[in-house]
Amino acid sequence: MAQLWGGRFTGETDALVYRFNASISFDQRLLAQDIEGSIAHVIMLAKQDILTGEEKDAIIKGLTGIREDAESGKLAITEEYEDIHSFVEANLIRRIGDTGKKLHTGRSRNDQVALDMRLYTRTEIQETECLLRELLQTLLSLMEEHLDTYMPGFTHLQKAQPVTLAHHLGAYFEMFRRDCERMHDIYKRMNYCPLGSGALAGTTYSLDRAYTAHLMGFAGPTRNSMDGVSDRDYLIEYLAAASVIMMHVSRFSEEIIIWNSNEYQFVEIDDAYSTGSSIMPQKKNPDIAELVRGKTGRVYGALLSLLTVMKGLPLAYNKDMQEDKELTFDAMDTVKGCLKLFQGMLQTMRFRRDVMARSAMNGFTNATDAADYLVKKGVPFRDAHGIVGKLVLYCITKETTIDALSLEELQEISPVFTGDIYDAVSLEACVERRLTGGAPGRKAMEQAIAEGRAFLNRESEENHE
Ligand code: ARG
Repeated sequence: MAQLWGGRFTGETDALVYRFNASISFDQRLLAQDIEGSIAHVIMLAKQDILTGEEKDAIIKGLTGIREDAESGKLAITEEYEDIHSFVEANLIRRIGDTGKKLHTGRSRNDQVALDMRLYTRTEIQETECLLRELLQTLLSLMEEHLDTYMPGFTHLQKAQPVTLAHHLGAYFEMFRRDCERMHDIYKRMNYCPLGSGALAGTTYSLDRAYTAHLMGFAGPTRNSMDGVSDRDYLIEYLAAASVIMMHVSRFSEEIIIWNSNEYQFVEIDDAYSTGSSIMPQKKNPDIAELVRGKTGRVYGALLSLLTVMKGLPLAYNKDMQEDKELTFDAMDTVKGCLKLFQGMLQTMRFRRDVMARSAMNGFTNATDAADYLVKKGVPFRDAHGIVGKLVLYCITKETTIDALSLEELQEISPVFTGDIYDAVSLEACVERRLTGGAPGRKAMEQAIAEGRAFLNRESEENHE
């Protein structure tokens, strides 16, 4: 056991206690961040004349070597160390001798771990945002391609009114766009450096916290040292935003599963993204979409777990907070994995325009338009609704559609119908006349696509600044 805190103890830690307390099995993920933070810390210590230039150089060289050797596998990260911070410090001392013992001057593991986790999460947020932007790109291309791919729009999973695939995908574009913005917001709020908070009450050394923050690309140092070591809000915000992302991909997955079913056949998922059955030779299952839907549960679980861990914790640091890591790491891996696979599945999926259009043509998706036609001829809407209701009933008994009825049949139900009804209730007319902002008509959709494109260009410009 290599511990940083033996001095005050006379007895040995119980082996089970040691293992229960240790975090090395999961916080070894923070190796790069721990070393980055330590390097910034010693650069600042040297600037403040707390360390000499030679000491700083020796420590940085030692830390860089540890990182390289651990990453190449030459130096094993083992359970012998309590956590990643002990691992780095013990190895530094082993490499460079007593100078290594100065690394922890003016620092506590409490502000150290707070920093490591922030550095890690910061990158995760950026990567998640990047994946969301790729998904938005894919959606936008599909929208451009499917401006006149007609399909039924649903409410209650019952056919409602005709829309286009571009319009349906456009709804998801909006969801993922908000997800992107959420990532952006969280980043801005969390990008402050807790290093220098010490254990909870700062330190007596003349640390230049603004300088350390600047070295690591933070907007500045955190403002209160107790909050600095015990704030996990940004993880909760990340997990909440991640849960919303998962909710969106889960809804989308559910639709793809339905569309890919034998009954619908709106889409065909590519072989590369499907799996077979060990017993039923005919099967091609949408497992990826199902797994994405299923994994949503673990991300929601992580959010609920961390909220519960943090509930009722007194200030400042408490060991409970160590529980933030495994579940957050798992959620981060899950979200990124799902976004990557989902976007691949979407990109390779075949949309069956003919089946979608045929489906939009039956199920009376043009009933509202038939009523609107009557309204335009002077019939009050409520009466028009009743007339078309009768028309639908008539069609159901005759197993036909409104546009397949003869003018005589139509006029028997209402004399207001004339020959122009057929143009008014054609699938194309039903969609193309819907031109209110945000509607599926071509003009409205072209506007939405242009706005989407502008959003993506604006976003990438901002990220390059
Ligand atoms: N492993 C700990 C964590 O993840 C590091 C901080 C330990 N601090 C302490 N005072 N024991 O939270």
